[in-house]
Amino acid sequence: MSLLVTGIGELVTNGPDGDGPLGIQHDAALVVEDGVLTWVGARLNAPACDARIDVEGRAVLPGFVDSHSHLVFAGDRAGEFSARMTGVPYDGGGIATSMAATRGAPDDELRSLVAARVEEMRRQGTTTVEIKSGYGLTVADEARALRIACEFTTETTYLGAHVVPPEWRGDRAAYVDLVAGEMLAACAPHARWIDVFCEPNSPHAFDEAESRRVLAAGVDAGLMPRVHGNQLGPGPGVGLAVEFGAASVDHCTFLGADDVAALVDAADTTVATLLPGVEFSTRSPYPDARRLIDSGVSVAIATDCNPGTCYSSSMPFMIALAVREMRMSPAEAVQAATRGGAKALRRSDIGRIEVGAKADLCVLEAPSHEHLAYRPGVPISRVLGEERWV
Ligand code: NIG
Ligand code: FE
Repeated sequence: MSLLVTGIGELVTNGPDGDGPLGIQHDAALVVEDGVLTWVGARLNAPACDARIDVEGRAVLPGFVDSHSHLVFAGDRAGEFSARMTGVPYDGGGIATSMAATRGAPDDELRSLVAARVEEMRRQGTTTVEIKSGYGLTVADEARALRIACEFTTETTYLGAHVVPPEWRGDRAAYVDLVAGEMLAACAPHARWIDVFCEPNSPHAFDEAESRRVLAAGVDAGLMPRVHGNQLGPGPGVGLAVEFGAASVDHCTFLGADDVAALVDAADTTVATLLPGVEFSTRSPYPDARRLIDSGVSVAIATDCNPGTCYSSSMPFMIALAVREMRMSPAEAVQAATRGGAKALRRSDIGRIEVGAKADLCVLEAPSHEHLAYRPGVPISRVLGEERWV
């Protein structure tokens, strides 16, 4: 069945057939067949279709691509957040609290928690989400987290190297052996990606040698690398990500000139994924997005939705923060939340509106993409026709 979507006041295509970097078309229409875009153009030229929706002048964007989240967890850490707001710094230690709650949750409870969070994302316009493990940290609990994540997305990431869990603190090397050995073997069938929290500034996370070992083992097992790097201070994360040809290095809050230069050289391969909700929720300095963009680095933004550093599933909120706090233009922020996220997941079928792409569409209760940052906190975005396309 073909569906004609018409009355699109502003169509953000992210492609060459339109105005400016967002490829904007006005008074546009598009056709969807079996979940794929089969025609995009001016409303007046639209072909006849089996069915039709008129969006009455609203803006339509590619669905948001949230390329970084940790949705498989139980419990929350509201108390830790309150303490932080009175000055207690974040060091990753709270991950063990979420780990204990997650290990204790039955499969069905964990599954419904993830389902509710994915639904919350869709209501705000997200059509693709990456989901990491990382709150199980045993062979069985990491594999379980990934099996559940696979029920919701193909973009699953093995993060056994999130922190060294308390029971292994006396023998870090043995835990790294487990992550790179038996745990990887159990998780690789359920994961597309491997990630590591490479952060020598946290006593709980992994140093350069440990991270290199985990990433190399993951690549040997057929997973593609991505890295949490340079979140809490300067460090080796960005260098390691570029060395491994990672699709993305995420956080990038504390970068040296060498890191920026490496990301410029690797712009075709490695995206710097900025997570401004983390700086908001940990009261930390924001990454210098202007320096990255003006130097030619590929940039994405994502939520990092997790119980510790950013318990928000809202891409529109991240766009608003990117504009207000990181001095990105609304167009740059929207592009980073769509095409940028797609590039960070090495996907060319999403993040753009063009013939052949997936019909993942976000419709705004507003006439232009600028309203996402202009009306912060107002629920103006949703997945178009989601009842038909889920
Ligand atoms: O991306 N930095 C490591 N992991 C998460 C935080 C996880 C947590 O604190 O529960 C992040 O910020
Ligand atoms: Fe994260």
